[in-house]
Parts: sequence; C-alpha cells; structure tokens
Amino acid sequence: MKLYAIIFGKNPDLSWGEFNAFARKHNIRVHPVLRKDGWVIIKSSEDLEREFRWLGGALKLIRIIGRDSGLDKAPYSKLFTVSIYGHRNGDWRLWRKLGSELKARFKQIGPSKFFKPASIFAMPSELILKGFPRVRDFSFIFDGEGFWFGETVAVTDPFELKKLDVGRPYQRPILSIPPRLARIMVNLTGLRRGKLLDPFCGVGTIVQEFMLQGFEAYGSDVDGRVVRGARKNLEWLRREFNVRSRYVLEVRDARNLRGRFDAVVTEPYLGKPLKRELSISEAKRASKKLDSFYREVFRSISNVATRSVVFTFPAFRLRNGGVYRRNREWLEDLGFSIEARYLDYEGRHRLIRDIHVLKVG
Ligand SMILES: C[S@@+](CC[C@H](N)C(=O)[O-])C[C@H]1O[C@@H](n2cnc3c(N)ncnc32)[C@H](O)[C@@H]1O
Repeated sequence: MKLYAIIFGKNPDLSWGEFNAFARKHNIRVHPVLRKDGWVIIKSSEDLEREFRWLGGALKLIRIIGRDSGLDKAPYSKLFTVSIYGHRNGDWRLWRKLGSELKARFKQIGPSKFFKPASIFAMPSELILKGFPRVRDFSFIFDGEGFWFGETVAVTDPFELKKLDVGRPYQRPILSIPPRLARIMVNLTGLRRGKLLDPFCGVGTIVQEFMLQGFEAYGSDVDGRVVRGARKNLEWLRREFNVRSRYVLEVRDARNLRGRFDAVVTEPYLGKPLKRELSISEAKRASKKLDSFYREVFRSISNVATRSVVFTFPAFRLRNGGVYRRNREWLEDLGFSIEARYLDYEGRHRLIRDIHVLKVG
C-alpha cells in the first residue's frame, strides 16, 4: 500500500462516490486517510496507477513522497511545474518559492527549469501539452496543519474526452450528456463485466462508454433518427479508438423493454427545456408529471435489470435560490433500493441532475 492524493474535478462528492465504486470493481484496496473538499489522501495498492485514467470525475493522481518534507527525495527534472492545493492564502509568491527550492536541488544534478501554469496548480491539459510524464508536476497539498508533498503519476485525459464528444460525426449538443459524466455513471454500477443497456441512448454517449470499457453494449431509443445517428457514432468510435467490442442498437420505447441486462445506465427524457427558474409549486407539478412516465419506465426496467441501475432524475433550481428534489418511494415498491444519490449542476442549465445509484432487490 502506498499513500496517494487524488484531485477531483468540479463535483467532489460525485467523484468520491465514483472512485469508491471504481476501486471495488477493480479490486483495488483503499483506506481513506483525509478527505477535504476537492481532494483526498488515501492509502491504496499500486494498481490504482494503472487504472486511474478510466475515472471520469478525477483529475490527477499524486504519489505522496513526504509529509512536511520529501523535497530531497523528488526525482530530478529538467522541466517541471508546481501545484499548490488547499492553501488558504496560496499565491504566486508561495508558488515561486516552492518551485525555486526544488529547482535549486535539481540544479545540483543538471539543468532545470519550472514553468508557470494558468493557476497555482497545473491542470491535466497543461501537463499533457508540456510533455507529461517526462515533464513532472510536484504538488504541495496543505491541510491546515502542514502539507503533503508528492508527484503526479497519472492524469485523466481531457483531450480524449473532448474527442469522444465533439469529434463524433452525429451531434446533438443540447441533449447529449458529457462523456466525462457517462464515464462516471458507468463506473457507479461497480461492475467490471456484463451486459449493459441505455434505454434512452440518444446519440450514444453512454453506449460508447460501455464499449470503451469492454462491456456488452446495448442501446435503444424511441426516435429512429437518433438511433441511426448513434450507429454512425459507434462505427466512428470503433475506427478512431480501435475498439473491438460490439454493440446492439434498436428503436424501442423504454416502457417496453426486453431481454436481461446486468445494469441499466441512462439519462432519460428530462422534460421540456426550462425557460426560467420555477416556483416550488411549479417544480412539484413538473416533477409529478414526469414521475408518472418514470414509473412506467421503471416497471419495465424491473423486468430486465438484474443487478444495478444508474439513472438521472431531474431536480429543479428554484426562483428562491433553493433546489427541489423529489423522493420516490415507489422505487422501493418496484424492488429497487437506493444506494446513493448525487446532485450534479451544469452551469448554464436550470435543470439539475439527481443521479440515483440503485440496487436491484
Ligand atoms: C436526454 S436524451 C438522452 C441523451 C443521451 N444520453 C445522449 O448522450 O445522447 C433523452 C432521449 O430519450 C429519448 N426518449 C424520449 N422518450 C422515450 C421513450 N419513451 N422511450 C425511449 N426513448 C425515449 C429521446 O429520443 C432522447 O434521445
């Protein structure tokens, strides 16, 4: 077991939930040491370094070298950068001081320079463009009492995720979900193998993630035109990403599913686009109306899903600044138990995702 820090993206609660399901599915032993907003320190087996790139909600994996120390053990770097996390008054002066200290040590071995990222921490995109892992990133993670010092050993690749989104031949930007979120939702099943279905597949963002992760991939949608578009996208995926997995797509109403699947992962129809924020009574009404549709969908899912369901329900941003999320007792009546719920905000949207992780039985 080694000490690591993980830096999360914009939704740390969701990303921590994803990470735990991910560790379970890969049989990676993990002990949390310290969890703060935006990052965690864990003890974990080294397999994590190999699998890390398959996380959707994490940005960087940092191998801890020392606590309030360790700079003398940092491996020599000709070109490197410095990242600071958790420091209340962290600024460029501190950043320059820490970088200079490392540079002075490296200079005893050979030429050395450090480069300035856009903020006092380097994002994966900046590291990849500069030549990571040859170019190194050293982090100082402050927790109020001292700092953890370490080196980034893995990052998730924003360029790959972007290509999975805007590189596709068939696009429908407003309705399709970000590939990063599709990855998180698939990981939340905690499954490593099996037959997975997205019954509201749209242009196929979640189905493409099934394929990338080597699942038996199934998708359906009531709209024949988008199913044709999804097929184009999945053929593109097989070519561009050299993916060998097969897929099955069909035109089908989600209230009338057939077959047997280990898990259903989906973002359904979420209602008409909202032109403004709602009052609480409007949100209750909108949510109740959609619920009668979701109930029928779940009646159908209960006939086909055998282990797990990851499903996005809508929650609503209210005019008074709050959020309306509905509780659905009927899920239990249909044989589903709620394992976790996460809210996911998308800046410009009035709609908020209320992601449910459900177990069957
Ligand atoms: C939010 S979109 C899904 C987006 C998808 N995750 C993607 O990335 O493209 C919802 C989809 O549900 C489909 N849909 C609406 N009602 C349906 C129904 N009763 N059965 C199956 N699909 C339905 C729509 O055609 C639409 O493609």
